[in-house]
Amino acid sequence: MRSPQREAATGLPQRVTIYEVGPRDGLQNEKTVVPAAVKAEFIQRLARAGLGTIETTSFVPPSWVPQLSDASEVLEILGDEGKGRQRPVLVPNERGFDRALDAGVGAVAIFGSATETFAQKNLNRSVAESVNMFSPVVKRARDEDMWVRAYVSMCFGDPWEGPVPIEQVVDVAEQLMDLGCDELSLGDTIGVGTTGHVARLLEALDARGIGTDRIAVHFHDTYGQALANTMEALRHGVAVVDASTGGLGGCPYAKSATGNLATEDLVWALDGAGVETGVELGQLVETSVWMAEQLGRPSPSRVVRALAGG
Ligand code: HMG
Ligand code: MG
Repeated sequence: MRSPQREAATGLPQRVTIYEVGPRDGLQNEKTVVPAAVKAEFIQRLARAGLGTIETTSFVPPSWVPQLSDASEVLEILGDEGKGRQRPVLVPNERGFDRALDAGVGAVAIFGSATETFAQKNLNRSVAESVNMFSPVVKRARDEDMWVRAYVSMCFGDPWEGPVPIEQVVDVAEQLMDLGCDELSLGDTIGVGTTGHVARLLEALDARGIGTDRIAVHFHDTYGQALANTMEALRHGVAVVDASTGGLGGCPYAKSATGNLATEDLVWALDGAGVETGVELGQLVETSVWMAEQLGRPSPSRVVRALAGG
């Protein structure tokens, strides 16, 4: 079968926005450094497959993430296709913001951590110091009329600290949203969350005034829970889901992190449930097969394997 039988599921939104992170979260963790022209083509193919929002790259020091050191070059190749509110880039600090501004981006994402250990490992800062680092970035982005997203990592568990109290996640989320961000993305960086945990966190955020209309979910699939967790979030009113074409992804500063929820797995589930995404699954699978050739390894996505093989 090339597509699932459509049978409407109850309790899901009519339409879901897929926030594609493959070019950034996917490629930041690959051993192979993909040339800028291939990255740009990847983004163009994703757009042609119907993905509206695509996170294109990161403006971090090349010493931290060498895989994305060509951020400006990728955006230069893309021209207007790499600009606008639907092409966000990761920016940790003012130096990164200056570079993003020079490249003409229209949307940025800051990325905080719910835990102190990961804040140190990923940002070389405490949680409080990293909020201070992000503050002028968000202010300047707002002054430029950019769209701003805030990620919080390690929302469902941390490889060094273990369980992460829900209130601790909510505290950090609130501090980041109070800077003036438009959207909050809840990161399960190491893919350990389960459905009840998702529900409790969304309820706790709602109780603090951060409703699902401003929330996106970002599940890595290490323990095979990403799709179940996503469906749970959708049933609670979330309508923006982060996913990575082909299931690429991970975080170089959290070794236990594997790929994100594969966009193809998500689209198969939503197509079957009668939820609109605007994405054409066949074209997406072709893109993953092409990207797997560039990377020299097969896609970990089950749907890609099933459709590409059959
Ligand atoms: P630091 O080393 O403390 O930085 O890193 P610094 O401010 O001391 O600067 C050191 C040098 O880097 C200086 O150069 C700066 O100018 C330069 P020097 O004077 O030595 O020649 N520099 C820069 N160059 C280019 N672009 C910049 C920049 N900033 C400084 N933006 C820093 C602190 C925050 C910069 C660093 O820790 C960092 O960038 N970390 C990001 C690591 C990263 O990208 N991780 C992966 C993304 S997060 C993720 O994947 C999780 C997520 O997917 C959600 C989830 O799954 O949970 C989003
Ligand atoms: Mg991630």
